[in-house]
Amino acid sequence: MLILGLQGSPRKGGNTDHLLGAFLDKAAQAGAAVKTIQVARAGIVPCKGCGYCETHGTCVIADDPMSAEVYGLLREADLVVAATPVFFYGITAQLKVLIDRCQTLWSRKYVYKLKDPLAATRNGLLLSVAASRGRQLFDGIHLTAKYFFDAIDARFSHALVYRGVESKGAIRKQDGLAADLDEAIQKTVLPLVRRKQVLFVSPTGACRAPMAAVMAQQRFGTRIRTGSGGWSPATALHDPMVRAMQRVGVDMGFRRPATIERALAGAAPDLTIVIGQHAAETAVPGVKTVRWSLPEPAASDDETMDRLRMEMEGRVEKLMQSFE
Ligand SMILES: Cc1cc2nc3c(=O)[nH]c(=O)nc-3n(C[C@H](O)[C@H](O)[C@H](O)COP(=O)(O)O)c2cc1C
Repeated sequence: MLILGLQGSPRKGGNTDHLLGAFLDKAAQAGAAVKTIQVARAGIVPCKGCGYCETHGTCVIADDPMSAEVYGLLREADLVVAATPVFFYGITAQLKVLIDRCQTLWSRKYVYKLKDPLAATRNGLLLSVAASRGRQLFDGIHLTAKYFFDAIDARFSHALVYRGVESKGAIRKQDGLAADLDEAIQKTVLPLVRRKQVLFVSPTGACRAPMAAVMAQQRFGTRIRTGSGGWSPATALHDPMVRAMQRVGVDMGFRRPATIERALAGAAPDLTIVIGQHAAETAVPGVKTVRWSLPEPAASDDETMDRLRMEMEGRVEKLMQSFE
């Protein structure tokens, strides 16, 4: 599983940085792959409020780190951790910039009515610190986190917030911190990291493998984590396949063909499905390999792609038998 940490404080090595780092260290020990974005130094451009995403499904700001990388990571992540200090009863301006750009994902969900393949299993965790001790100190942050997690299709599962934390390093003296982090790992990481890993492989990892991986993720997501890759990955997913999935409400946006090594965020597969007639190789030595002899579609028209999708659905439905 992949955990994406969003470190929202501009203070490097500060309380938020430490809190997030401590959580991610424990998550990595539990077997998760982790990735942190230092949001204040990422160079993300603020939302222009232009409405482009509501008419195009993508952001008009196409050349910054949000479009280049962060949307893709938000889609790939099984757990998104939003970490921020309280600044004037809200999140930091830096994290807010990233969250506002998620209006694109909101549009895909609510305007285009597309469903993210990980929607049923993705979790959201909030970590926060503040200097004072007021009762409503974290109310603003909770509200923003709630609607952020909804837009990125994550279930807001847990929040760890700490009062009276001001000077750099003060969080380290917080009573019960290690126990709190362990409990958060139990709730947000362990159920997801224990799933079986299933790798789908096709020559370019651009059409049949990602289609199957996404279907299997939606159908059996509480039991398996899927990934897809290719021996020679193409630069983009096959657009007619992406549209065929959109016709049944599935969002494949921001996904890219991956190498076999990168397909499961670095995790080793428990089962590999090789799709294609000529794919004779074993994708990962020592791992059980099942072959699906679904040929490459001869054309890319809607009818052909819809037929492939239906055929793939039939295969995916029987996938769990491969573990027997
Ligand atoms: C611009 C700014 C605004 C802040 N506003 C609040 C606030 O409204 N309430 C509060 O309790 N602490 C406030 N703080 C204190 C921080 O939340 C606190 O020092 C925190 O530990 C900083 O975390 P960091 O080390 O991760 O940056 C503010 C700090 C700054 C710099």
